[in-house]
Amino acid sequence: MTCNDGTVFNLIFLTVEVCYVLAMDLMGLIYAPTNESLEQAARLLRDGEVVGIPTETVYGLAADAFNVGALTKVFSVKERPTFDPLIVHVTASGAAPVDLALLDHLQLIDLRLFSDTAKKRADALIHEFWPGPLTLVLPKSPKVPDLATAGLPTVAIRMPRHEVTRVLIEKARVPLAAPSANRFGRISPTTAQDVVTELGDRIPMVIDGGPCEIGLESTVLLINPDGALFLLRPGAISREELERSSGAEILIGPGNAENTPQQAPGLLSSHYAPTKMLNLLPSSLRDLSNEERRRFVERCKSVSTVGFLSFSEGIQTQALLKESLPSCEVILESLPLSSSPKEAAQYFFSKLRSLDRSKAEILFSEPCATNTALGYAIFDRLRRASVPRTS
Ligand code: TXA
Ligand code: MG
Repeated sequence: MTCNDGTVFNLIFLTVEVCYVLAMDLMGLIYAPTNESLEQAARLLRDGEVVGIPTETVYGLAADAFNVGALTKVFSVKERPTFDPLIVHVTASGAAPVDLALLDHLQLIDLRLFSDTAKKRADALIHEFWPGPLTLVLPKSPKVPDLATAGLPTVAIRMPRHEVTRVLIEKARVPLAAPSANRFGRISPTTAQDVVTELGDRIPMVIDGGPCEIGLESTVLLINPDGALFLLRPGAISREELERSSGAEILIGPGNAENTPQQAPGLLSSHYAPTKMLNLLPSSLRDLSNEERRRFVERCKSVSTVGFLSFSEGIQTQALLKESLPSCEVILESLPLSSSPKEAAQYFFSKLRSLDRSKAEILFSEPCATNTALGYAIFDRLRRASVPRTS
């Protein structure tokens, strides 16, 4: 079938797509966040089960952080290697504020290992950014199972902002370890339906908290016992904001060798990746050199449908694509970052997911500007999603 005789094909594809969306929750796994469903989820969690949960960043796959059996399920459901540690989610219970003393009381961290500088910086960051999309990596208490931390002497903790997540943690009465609810290395889920698509055949329940407000995983910051700060993963909270709040310089985190405990996520050869090959262009379509444009056109020659993710204004990109690929159908997803930065972050993973599910045979993305926290965080995911894979 060539690029232009696609009407019948399009109709078939549309029907398949509609059936797909309708079939998505035939398994009946998605629950509205009622008091009853949250009680049920809390019971499952206390009984050592795993549950899909919403947060303001991405959906998580939650389990009791102190239950090794439940943590084992998280790793096996996600097909995640055990050298990749988890983030533990906490919330305030009753009148007690979430602070270092509470984390120590919950036996998540060991405050005795903190210098005064580390305490002061952690306090300031917690006070300003929790609840919210900031994960702090802190010296751990021996009670936290090694499986949760990949044997590292530290534990990653965050207090989510999403109301439903916080109510669920309170009802469960245990801290919840929750990695993103996708199969390892794949695109992070930003809706309850995405979780079902990723893990629907393996988990008993997903709580629907609506589409994620931020759409990208939390910023991860390591606080060493001496108080030195390292950014391990960029997110919605910028390095500048963290520096202002902590009063200290933030260094870019130490790297990792493959197959060793991961201090920073996605350093493995591929992460956040669609199943189709995603090609990252060297610049926006408009700014490609003649030679780069020739190579782009050449790569599209043998296919009839191309998927294209753009961070520029849609109308301009559409015209340029028509001119460059006159005999191809192009499925264009536009996320104009400079005019709508929040929406670009919020819908980044879902656009990638939708291109992956489309009939496009090959995917391309423009790079995005990295001069804002969200742009920097999106580019980090884009770079990892487009790393060439061997299988
Ligand atoms: O926004 C988020 O953080 C989401 C939601 C569900 O809260 N969670 C999430 O989890 O993104 P996950 O598992 O996809 O990413 C956690 C990353 C790990 O890949 C790891 O590199 C880093 O956090 N991490 C966890 N514990 C660590 C530790 N002890 N030291 C260094 N890095 C750690
Ligand atoms: Mg993840």
